[in-house]
Amino acid sequence: MSVPPFATGLQLLFSHEQIAARVAVMGAEISRDFRDEPVLLLGVLKGAAIFLSDLARALTVEASFDFLGVSSYGKGTKSSGEVRLTKDLDESMQGKNVILVEDILDTGLTLNYLKKLISAHQPRSLRIAALLDKPSHRVQPVHADYVGFTIEDFFVVGYGMDCAERYRNLPDICILSPEMR
Ligand code: PRP
Repeated sequence: MSVPPFATGLQLLFSHEQIAARVAVMGAEISRDFRDEPVLLLGVLKGAAIFLSDLARALTVEASFDFLGVSSYGKGTKSSGEVRLTKDLDESMQGKNVILVEDILDTGLTLNYLKKLISAHQPRSLRIAALLDKPSHRVQPVHADYVGFTIEDFFVVGYGMDCAERYRNLPDICILSPEMR
């Protein structure tokens, strides 16, 4: 597929074919771990929406969805360090196998905030699936059970991820250079 005009100047990091192959493996791992037990995929808006929709279809176990809205970046490119809940859960997580679905782990602030919030609901289990992990930026330690790709300190967009709300619908994951932010 050719690069859409709005994405000109971005540097390709992972093509949609590479992402699809990795998501298929992650889906197989989760399906193997949960066997016949249903899972609840808890997506973190907005960035994880596309990853969740592909991961859900890579599962062979039954999956329901819920979404949390969280924002820590606002319109900028750096974490403000403050996590803000913009949409709460629709239903309790009590007794459920929750898989928290994140597009990217960066400072770890969002994930630690969400882990506390979800744990208060007393789920049967809580696991983390993150498509990207950027460990070089960690402020708080976090551990994801399923990781798609570990990346260096790049600012990435596409496949749900944005810069000031742009580029989310790009099928590939690309690096946005500092002069384009
Ligand atoms: C991104 C991403 C994670 C969070 C991770 O969300 O989707 O939720 O940052 O960063 P952290 O590890 O430094 O906390 P963002 O605030 O950009 O909102 P968005 O998903 O709506 O783009």
